[in-house]
Amino acid sequence: MTGRTAPSGASRPPLSLDEYAERARTRLGPEIWDFIEGGAGEERTLAANRAAFDRTRLSPRVLTGVGECDPSTTVLGRRWGAPVAVAPMAYHTLMHPDGETATARAAGAAGLPLVVSTFAGRTFAEIAAAATSPLWLQVYCFRDRDTTRRLIERAEAAGFEALVLTVDTPRLGRRLRDLRNDFRLPPHIAPANLPADEADYSSPSEHGRTGLDPALDWSVIAWLRSVSRLPVLVKGVMTAEDARRAIAAGVDGIVVSNHGGRQLDGAPATLDVLAPIAAAVDGRCALLLDGGVRRGRDVLGALALGADAVLLGRPVLHGLAVAGGAGAAGVLGLVLDELSEAMTLTGTATVADADTSLLAGPEDTA
Ligand code: FNR
Repeated sequence: MTGRTAPSGASRPPLSLDEYAERARTRLGPEIWDFIEGGAGEERTLAANRAAFDRTRLSPRVLTGVGECDPSTTVLGRRWGAPVAVAPMAYHTLMHPDGETATARAAGAAGLPLVVSTFAGRTFAEIAAAATSPLWLQVYCFRDRDTTRRLIERAEAAGFEALVLTVDTPRLGRRLRDLRNDFRLPPHIAPANLPADEADYSSPSEHGRTGLDPALDWSVIAWLRSVSRLPVLVKGVMTAEDARRAIAAGVDGIVVSNHGGRQLDGAPATLDVLAPIAAAVDGRCALLLDGGVRRGRDVLGALALGADAVLLGRPVLHGLAVAGGAGAAGVLGLVLDELSEAMTLTGTATVADADTSLLAGPEDTA
């Protein structure tokens, strides 16, 4: 006996993403917590995303001789430290004053890309100055195309490497928590890359109604090509049919996403629609997924079902809320450590080795 007592509670770093979430909850005001955690409607889709990963079983493999596994991968011609990027989320400045600059530093330390939201709280130039890994711009296409075009030009000038057009938001889903709270952004929170004088951004739901173009169609891809030379991904595809249409429209990548359960409540879990979409895509463009990834083994589960990489959403905000950039780095480091554990224990030497043979069946339905 050494007489050493194990550190407990807040004195040790969180051991899981759920522990980060719990600590973030105690630090954030209830309305801010509701804004980041909430989903649309009865939050069925929000719960389904997570439940689909909870149901997934991976087969342990033994005496594989794998030794050190290599979680790095190549997406759109760029090397990533692991098949994980930070999902676009509005206003990291709500979590910590450093906002997206802190997230960019954390992502860079882990060698992971950051997808910067149209509603970032720090300027593209500030974020680019902090970044050491690829930055992508998430694009909301506004009724005012000129505002959208100028946003893209600013990101491109700051060195961003791809555009991720969010296609699941012709209007914002009804997020009941925000409606109940009559949620408004605190006065010091504003989009740093949109013209301050042209719109009132204080209520995200109201701005969504007036600002977003509700009538977008597939011709928007050609428009994006006309204003930018960057690769284009579409985020929010949930059916094989739409994946085929996206490829026909010439996209470079697809993100299978239901917006973290914040848009159509009752939509399926992203993981549950991945396999048919992967079959339709058949390697013709990059295929990413988000929604409910909360452990390294979830990343491996998504790869097994055909994703090239995943985006991690809310947990990164939790890390920021807990300890700014160090917290975001802690979250990403934990996911990578868990991914490496899952790869080792399943005998998966490289990301390219992940396929359906990893999956153990039958799934339990609990
Ligand atoms: C988002 N998401 C999002 N998506 C997008 O395309 N543009 C955006 O500005 C935002 N903003 C945003 C804010 C907050 C607070 C959340 C929680 C989410 C959706 C996000 O990119 C992603 O699809 C989901 O968050 C992924 O699910 P998980 O990982 O949060 O379960």
